[in-house]
Amino acid sequence: MDETDLREILDVATYAPSGMNMQTWHFTAIQNKELLEELNEKIKGAFAKSDDPRMQERGQSKTYCCYYHAPTLVIVSNDSSQWWAGMDCACALENMFLAAKSLGIGSCWINQLGQTCDDPEVRSLLTSFGIPENHKVYGCAALGYAAMPPVKEKVLKEGTVTIIK
Ligand SMILES: Cc1cc2nc3c(=O)[nH]c(=O)nc-3n(C[C@H](O)[C@H](O)[C@H](O)COP(=O)(O)O)c2cc1C
Repeated sequence: MDETDLREILDVATYAPSGMNMQTWHFTAIQNKELLEELNEKIKGAFAKSDDPRMQERGQSKTYCCYYHAPTLVIVSNDSSQWWAGMDCACALENMFLAAKSLGIGSCWINQLGQTCDDPEVRSLLTSFGIPENHKVYGCAALGYAAMPPVKEKVLKEGTVTIIK
């Protein structure tokens, strides 16, 4: 991905609304293939320790890649002492997805670091990326050029909107 496009996507993230406009978040973009693979291995290691058999299966899988081998992963973290920290991050992530779409770049919310960011092995790698110790990861954006456009039309659930006048 063009450096200018990445900068623009990160820029719009920082313009998202945040509770009390505190902007305590951090956006860590990783474009190093080896580091992304190492991160995936640590996440799998954390899953392997889980009591949940589905998580264990992911942890032991040779092929599982939580970020789908995307060339760019933006980790969105925030000071977890604010109860709205995750909401700030969701606003920033949506800004990123919309910006990516407008630039013709595919994107996907990647959630696995939300469950695993406090695993010691995962945390030490996050710390080496410069993610503050008091931050939790609330989501990531995988970014890249999609091999093919989405073919399935989105089926919307009925009855999710109410208007009262
Ligand atoms: C909070 C949240 C967490 C998500 N986590 C993941 C994830 O970990 N991996 C993934 O492939 N998609 C993830 N998604 C993407 C959803 O699966 C996707 O938005 C949904 O299937 C609708 O598809 P659409 O966004 O293309 O309309 C997540 C979306 C949200 C909002």
